Amino acid sequence: MSGSFPEGFVWGTATAAHQVEGGNWNNDWWAWEHAPGTPCAEPSGDACDHYHRYPGDLALLAALGFASYRFSVEWSRVEPEAGEFSTAALGHYDRMVDECLGLGMEPVVTLHHFTNPRWVAGRGGWAEPDTAGRFGSFAGTVARRLGDRVSRFCTINEPNIVATIGYLAGIFPPGDQDPGRRDLAVRVLAAGHRQAVAAVRSASPARVGLTLALPEWVAVDGGDEVLEAMRAPDEDPFFAATGGDDFIGVQTYTRNRVGPSGLLGPEQGVPTTLMGYEFWPEALEAAIRRAHTVTSLPVLVTENGIAAADDTQRIEYVRRALEGVLRCLADGVPVQGYTYWSAFDNFEWALGYGPTFGLIAVDRATQERTVKPSARWLGEVARRNSLG
Ligand code: GCO
Repeated sequence: MSGSFPEGFVWGTATAAHQVEGGNWNNDWWAWEHAPGTPCAEPSGDACDHYHRYPGDLALLAALGFASYRFSVEWSRVEPEAGEFSTAALGHYDRMVDECLGLGMEPVVTLHHFTNPRWVAGRGGWAEPDTAGRFGSFAGTVARRLGDRVSRFCTINEPNIVATIGYLAGIFPPGDQDPGRRDLAVRVLAAGHRQAVAAVRSASPARVGLTLALPEWVAVDGGDEVLEAMRAPDEDPFFAATGGDDFIGVQTYTRNRVGPSGLLGPEQGVPTTLMGYEFWPEALEAAIRRAHTVTSLPVLVTENGIAAADDTQRIEYVRRALEGVLRCLADGVPVQGYTYWSAFDNFEWALGYGPTFGLIAVDRATQERTVKPSARWLGEVARRNSLG
């Protein structure tokens, strides 16, 4: 197999506003981090102070060899109260877009990455049907401001995680454990995606798509039916909502093994990551093939990565994941690019700052950045457009 990727293959890294910016006190996640009794390890605090340090951060990523940067616009900054838009916050993201372009990096902008403004959460969050329209109107405002220079928008990041972990597992806000509320949230999130696609398209020539958390699913010992009962409500309504989109964003970290009694943990003998996931880089290939087969859309890998203390594991993981991407390409599956999660060690939601996904380490006390060997390795792969 040739180690080369097609011309125009997009190499990037990703972050999300709440995980890196710092000081996002006006959203439901900040409230959740500080509420008694939630499963949060620690508050996000200053995060990576990326809100202020983005010029240096972007310069570092561009110098490493990356040609795209996926980041999210924080809804609670842009629309801090219903219908009140902050031109200062919009100006901030406008400058980030220009900074990326000036450094030769394509900005890939996510419109919703897990956080809702407090006023949206207060009106019912994703269990309130009106949220779909509110999100659509926010998306239109952002697209009118940035859409002349942004070539790709992702509408909602992993709506399946928002619905399942927030409304069924109770680990993300609003902390519900209610199958009916989960199904309602799924419908509202899917409607929100459609509203955002329409809003982006009326304002901008950019490509627009949805990103989904897609593990490789493996049935063990006759677990097929149980697997389908877990997988289908989490994925199928969202696959169905992607009709007519320009791409599907695939976000894959590991595989889920399911037996007749439910999720099985990691298989004996398979090493695990700092997330407790199986070290299973081949999951990406399976997820890409499935997403493309189901939707017929071109695939952009919008997240793939590993939380590892040992950086050599990260290189091994990404190398094997990319070999899977090459096998997909060789079979004619249209994969447009690969985005590593994440550029920086950052705030891993309920788990706090423990799991380190970054290509670049961040000292929590000084905010000093340290480039890891994996960053230089992947930057070189990006520059050569080849695994070599
Ligand atoms: C997600 C989110 C990221 C996470 C990453 C690692 O996929 O859950 O998009 O915000 O940090 O996936 O868990």
